[in-house]
Amino acid sequence: MQTRTLGDNGLRTSALGLGCMGMSALYGETDRAESVATIHAALDAGVTLLDTGDFYGMGHNELLINEALRTAPAAHREQALTSVKFGALRTVDGRFIGYDGRPEAVQNFAAYSLQRLGTDHIDVYRIARLDPAVPIEETVGAIADLVQAGHVRHIGLSEVGADTIRKAASVAPISDLQIEYSLLSRDIEEQILPVCRELGIGVTAYGVLSRGLISGNWSRERQLSQGDFRSMSPRFSGDNLDRNLALVEALRDVAESKGVTVAQTAVAWVLSRGEDIVPLVGARTRERLAESLSALDVTLDAHDLDAIERAVPAGSAAGDRYPAAQMAHLDSEK
Ligand SMILES: NC(=O)c1ccc[n+]([C@@H]2O[C@H](COP(=O)([O-])OP(=O)(O)OC[C@H]3O[C@@H](n4cnc5c(N)ncnc54)[C@H](OP(=O)(O)O)[C@@H]3O)[C@@H](O)[C@H]2O)c1
Repeated sequence: MQTRTLGDNGLRTSALGLGCMGMSALYGETDRAESVATIHAALDAGVTLLDTGDFYGMGHNELLINEALRTAPAAHREQALTSVKFGALRTVDGRFIGYDGRPEAVQNFAAYSLQRLGTDHIDVYRIARLDPAVPIEETVGAIADLVQAGHVRHIGLSEVGADTIRKAASVAPISDLQIEYSLLSRDIEEQILPVCRELGIGVTAYGVLSRGLISGNWSRERQLSQGDFRSMSPRFSGDNLDRNLALVEALRDVAESKGVTVAQTAVAWVLSRGEDIVPLVGARTRERLAESLSALDVTLDAHDLDAIERAVPAGSAAGDRYPAAQMAHLDSEK
């Protein structure tokens, strides 16, 4: 497995990480045995970075990772890096009701996560969204205390903009910013990515397949269950979906001319954006995982990149990447 380094602090990780969110929540029905098998297959292939959030299925995802690590060969378990998001507040019926980045909340969230993960430390810890009521310096300062105490190894950020990144980095070294980045979501190229590079902060890119939309495996006929994020996503609805799927067909022509799949082309494109970027693939099955991991064998030359740009020009996505209420929580969009 190829490796990359996130941040000047030298967090060495596999070049692709596995995002485990969809194994617990937001993408419809889940299959525990297949989820554990997918995590095992990823570790087997040399993937070391496992991304989760304490609010993915309200602890479900961390317990799933615990089970997968406990039942993995010791060598794989020891190499695994956990990247955990915290801070989202939810109700019993799963509604999101805000964020809590107070220092005492950070300590509390971490205590529960360590217990659920069954580990003595978290490798990267980050608040999922900026808590507008708490300066980022305080939240990051509280994580820095956890680093000092040995409970956390690295400090990350998630979906924050350039000003917040600068404030956070003034408190402690930041390993990476986790943010949506794909052929359809390229806004970070303007301001956020240059600031990360200036400050020596890596990027863990999520949504590299735009939640399956640009995987080449999506169709208008796909039935979505209630609660599937994609049933509320502007990019998956109405005319937007038709326009976005037309972009996928243009990308398919490029992929087929190289003898690879659309998903592999989309993941390879994010990999090609820089050695400081680690795409998280959100595979929920071994089959999807294998497809995405093969992107590591795809080399895109200047001619390929031009063809991809013509197929999916920057800014061509139809629709916002989140519903309006969730867009309002994105410091990165302000
Ligand atoms: N920081 C944040 O705010 C934030 C937000 C969202 C996610 N994340 C993290 O990033 C990770 C990845 O995000 P994501 O799940 O939205 O990313 P994604 O990789 O764009 O989408 C994953 C979905 O695409 C579909 N898919 C189709 N073909 C695939 C293939 N060949 N390989 C993989 N998936 C394929 C699958 O849906 P089906 O199985 O339904 O077909 C899968 O669940 C998450 O697991 C989470 O850890 C972070």
